[in-house]
Amino acid sequence: MEIEDKKTPKIPIIESFLDTREMVKNPVQVFEKYRERLGPTFEFRFGGMRKTIVTADPEFLKYVLKDNNDNYHKSHIQVKRFVEFQGVGLTNSHGDYWLKQRKLLSMGFTRSRLAEMLPVQLKVLNDFMTDFEEDASKGKVDIHDQMVKFTLRSVGQSLFGSQMTRGELERFAAAIAEIQQFIVKKVVQPYLMPWYSISGQNKKYQDIRIKADQIVLDYVEKRRKDPGKESDILQLILTTPFKDSGNLMSDETVKVEILQLLVAGNETSTTAAAWAFYLLAKHPEHMAKIREEIEAVFGEEEVNYAALHQLKYTIAVLDESMRIRPPFWMIDREALKDDEFRGIKIPAGTTVVPYIYGVHHNAAVWKDPEKFDPGRFDSKQTEKMHHFAHIPFGGGPRVCIGQNMAKMQILLIMSAITRNYDFELCEDKEIGMHAMMLLKPDGPIYMNFKRVK
Ligand code: HEM
Repeated sequence: MEIEDKKTPKIPIIESFLDTREMVKNPVQVFEKYRERLGPTFEFRFGGMRKTIVTADPEFLKYVLKDNNDNYHKSHIQVKRFVEFQGVGLTNSHGDYWLKQRKLLSMGFTRSRLAEMLPVQLKVLNDFMTDFEEDASKGKVDIHDQMVKFTLRSVGQSLFGSQMTRGELERFAAAIAEIQQFIVKKVVQPYLMPWYSISGQNKKYQDIRIKADQIVLDYVEKRRKDPGKESDILQLILTTPFKDSGNLMSDETVKVEILQLLVAGNETSTTAAAWAFYLLAKHPEHMAKIREEIEAVFGEEEVNYAALHQLKYTIAVLDESMRIRPPFWMIDREALKDDEFRGIKIPAGTTVVPYIYGVHHNAAVWKDPEKFDPGRFDSKQTEKMHHFAHIPFGGGPRVCIGQNMAKMQILLIMSAITRNYDFELCEDKEIGMHAMMLLKPDGPIYMNFKRVK
């Protein structure tokens, strides 16, 4: 029997049901409509059925993601769909297994590892900039498309090192992207499940997965035979034993983890970088400030890791851009046991949605939330900020493991392009949001780039 709860504002079941189609097409718009009407925390029925509590209240977010995180696992439905295609790894495991994997994989993302990775990252950046110069000199370019190319090479090389060919990486990423789209379809439209089997789609995507797995397994085998001197994450995973047992990860586990890291790190960074360029082009007054800052920190020198954190204004622009357009607009959790937060009853089995876009646009948290204002991330302001007011990378123990790497890569590309080019949008129109798992631009973002040096 459901616990009576008079405290949480609710969307009537019939309205949730009627909104189902719109929810598939444009969930952020529907969530924003509910938030505007009912406040930061509300209940609706996902797909007209599943009891779902959505929250954009920083205190409630802190409770779910940190204070009582043991009671909130990633939702059953998502985990199940992902396991089918990705196996069990860091992003979709829980408990002791998750902790063991997290401890080992974290070693790949420490500041010293990132500093070691920088030379390879700079090589990726310089190669990319040569291609970019050629494209930009011919006329308008789609910055989203450019970021797809950049982040795949950048994240790909951090994970696999430079021995993986561009062709292998692109084939692997294309397979993953196809599978991802299918997983999202299954999560969002679960009622089509019998159709996915009958129509042969399940089989088709499992075949694609088998081929993608093989690319990684072949590469792992090659690397075991010839380790070389790479300091990428694959090398770390292959050579670091677990502390408790002293054993190394099996090839099968290595494959799952590296695949999950690429999935978690590739499109997210692409999306964040594309939105950052879009918002900068819309607010060109910040471009000159970024350029001045880069000049002051690096002069004519090449970027180095130790000084990247001195790019305070550039970092503030990126933070503000991820506030306005967070690549993960929501994440989801499921309550394991009955719980209560400030009178809000959360029965076991309830889906709880930490609504990242919502808290980033919550007027009780942010003054004038729709305004693009990097000044909010000035150190004097951030001291006063609630820790769960700005959570593009999530929060609590499952906070993004790759956040420093992502920031490094995006800062590198923002600095390289802004240092050398002025840019503007080809058309003075808003780029809409296409929200599925990630909050992506709803079409190309065409820009013109003019060299400034
Ligand atoms: C701007 C880029 C990125 C954004 C916005 C982002 C965002 C996030 C968010 C919100 C979570 C928490 C998910 C949850 O709690 O349900 C997360 C987790 C994770 N991210 Fe990222 N991420 C980014 C880049 C990366 C990169 C570059 C990597 C690695 C190469 C990465 C690897 C992961 C992994 C493995 C997890 C799961 C951690 C765990 O469950 O312990 N991410 N990310």
